[in-house]
Amino acid sequence: MALIYVTRAIPPVGIDMLREAGHEVDVSEKDGVLTKEELHQAVSAKPYEAVLSLLTDTIDGEFMDAVPTAKIIANYAVGYNNIDVSAATERGVVITNTPGVLDDTVSEFAFSMMLAIAKRISEADRFTRAGKYEGWAPQLLLGSDLQGKTLGIVGAGRIGSGVAKRAKFGLGMNVCYTDIKQSEKLEAEVPCQYHSTLHELLKSADVISIHVPLLESTKHLFSTAEFAAMKDSAYLINTSRGPVVDEVALVEALRNKTIRGAALDVFEDEPALKPGLSELDNVILTPHIASASQETRDKMSSMASQNIIDFINGQTPANVVEVK
Ligand code: DGY
Repeated sequence: MALIYVTRAIPPVGIDMLREAGHEVDVSEKDGVLTKEELHQAVSAKPYEAVLSLLTDTIDGEFMDAVPTAKIIANYAVGYNNIDVSAATERGVVITNTPGVLDDTVSEFAFSMMLAIAKRISEADRFTRAGKYEGWAPQLLLGSDLQGKTLGIVGAGRIGSGVAKRAKFGLGMNVCYTDIKQSEKLEAEVPCQYHSTLHELLKSADVISIHVPLLESTKHLFSTAEFAAMKDSAYLINTSRGPVVDEVALVEALRNKTIRGAALDVFEDEPALKPGLSELDNVILTPHIASASQETRDKMSSMASQNIIDFINGQTPANVVEVK
């Protein structure tokens, strides 16, 4: 029997698995993110052997020192930029994530954002609810077609590839992509063109969808120069991590019509929005829900718990992450 701390209520399937495996599980009762102090206090209350954390928790060396008995921290997310993996390695703490199970859901979400911004669906919904609809009009809320246009994928991993497939085979778009290296896998699945630099892609894409992890090298990958290099008819979709986009520069670019629109599920200072963003009509804003289908969140819950169960049983969990 091991003592396990879960930093916020998650879909119960994973908690049930931990309890059925005979472990004692404490779940934070706070209806919200624990502050740093609350988090440290909670995990140091008992000799927890495992922690199931969320992407909203800062898991750094200080956190690990607050719970030195925990030798596994299982993140309930595929992204793990909230965790100092080097600090974990130094302390012999294993870190796991939840890759794979959310690829289709996030791909579907990015795909739907692309359609929604091009067809001005949120804007049209606001317009109609506001009682502004006075009858059919030939030039009312004109959007853009996507068939035959070019989608630029930034980051050709599993989710980027999922969006590329849906765009190519679902909408008849052309696809190009950039990544640190050419992806034979993507090219075998989807006819597409590789650009070795982001700026080459920016010039040719009508819609750009971001699928890179947040690293030092990807912070503000999109800023003033990148928006200036994009077509003024282009749309930007971000379902990766907020700080990949310089949100202040994006507000400027949207306001000045340097680009036509954006759809964002993630923000630089989540949950806060940069000034001016929510006042713009040419942007769709959603609260980091790209993976939020019941099926996927259940799978993330069971995957994070299985990683803990395997570790406690002396096995190597399936989803250990390494220092990048
Ligand atoms: C992740 O898993 O990294 C997503 O951002 C949330 O599901």
